[in-house]
Amino acid sequence: MIILGLESSCDDTAAAILGDNGGILASVISGQDSIHARFGGIVPELASRSHLQVISTVVDETLHRSGLGFENLDLVSVTQGPGLIGSLLVGFSYAKSLSYALDIPFVGVDHMAGHLLSAFLETAPPPFPYIALIVSGGTSALFRVDGFFDFSLLGRTRDDAAGEAFDKVARLLNLGYPGGPAVARCAEAGDPAAYRFPRAMLEDDSLDFSFSGLKTAVMSRYKNHGTEERKRAVPDLCAAFQQAVVDVLIEKTIAAATRQRIDAVVLGGGVSANSVLRHRLKERCMAENKYLFLPAPANCTDNAAMIAFAGMKKFESGTQGNLDDDVFSRSLLGQ
Ligand code: KG4
Repeated sequence: MIILGLESSCDDTAAAILGDNGGILASVISGQDSIHARFGGIVPELASRSHLQVISTVVDETLHRSGLGFENLDLVSVTQGPGLIGSLLVGFSYAKSLSYALDIPFVGVDHMAGHLLSAFLETAPPPFPYIALIVSGGTSALFRVDGFFDFSLLGRTRDDAAGEAFDKVARLLNLGYPGGPAVARCAEAGDPAAYRFPRAMLEDDSLDFSFSGLKTAVMSRYKNHGTEERKRAVPDLCAAFQQAVVDVLIEKTIAAATRQRIDAVVLGGGVSANSVLRHRLKERCMAENKYLFLPAPANCTDNAAMIAFAGMKKFESGTQGNLDDDVFSRSLLGQ
């Protein structure tokens, strides 16, 4: 079965083709960073307009790279939610139109399910059950995954997502957009021990996250410095902030795996591109006799290959979409 995956939930227009064995034949991602950079964050109207402008070209390019044509497609899998409604509607309407025109089925997929299953795009996929830490611009959540459709939410952020905290700190420190990579780069020149920021562990038994207090702490330390000092303090502030985020993410993930007596851990979402998080989680999992499954960075960030995979599994289970289905803005996965 040849599957076209489509993803347009936020600010990336992505398409991918999966072949018969679920292998990636082509994957194309068109980002919008240059459009949103001067606003310091995503402007929903500009995001949906840009999806509209590029989606046909992105699909054509993906087909071209795979060496296939529309006539070879057997299924369209598309992100149905959660995300920005205007952005979601572009990909979802495109998928429905294609399904109607080609007379092939389509399936709507929860974006989070895509992230949770993205490790299956790798040659050595994880065994069930596993613990998944999904950290992106819109989500920070811990799941127990017992099967392709069996997700239990163990903890989630009560305020800012981890990526959102990186983006907000970057804006505060005038480091540009997107903030995660900018803060991580700047942190390389800083000392993580220069400041001691709070680690919001919440109640002892909670697997929820909270990052807004940390962001406020960075802001007040920055503003306490004089103008000259502020510039010099930025690398240390970035390093100490990053350390605090990574500490909490790792502690909660290991606590989840230990409490659930699960040995396999999967990392996903855009923040998993962070090399300190990847490196330290790897070390910690080794020390705790846990097996870490790290998808390639391109499969961790928003992409359409994970949507195609999740859609393939959904279709195999006998589910398909209807032309009167609609998009949704909030994920109900695991709740
Ligand atoms: O999953 P993703 O590509 O898409 C959305 O959630 O929309 O994640 C994007 C997020 C942004 O907040 C970005 O700042 C963050 O991931 N990010 C990082 C790094 N690279 C991207 N955060 C920390 N360190 C990084 N190296």
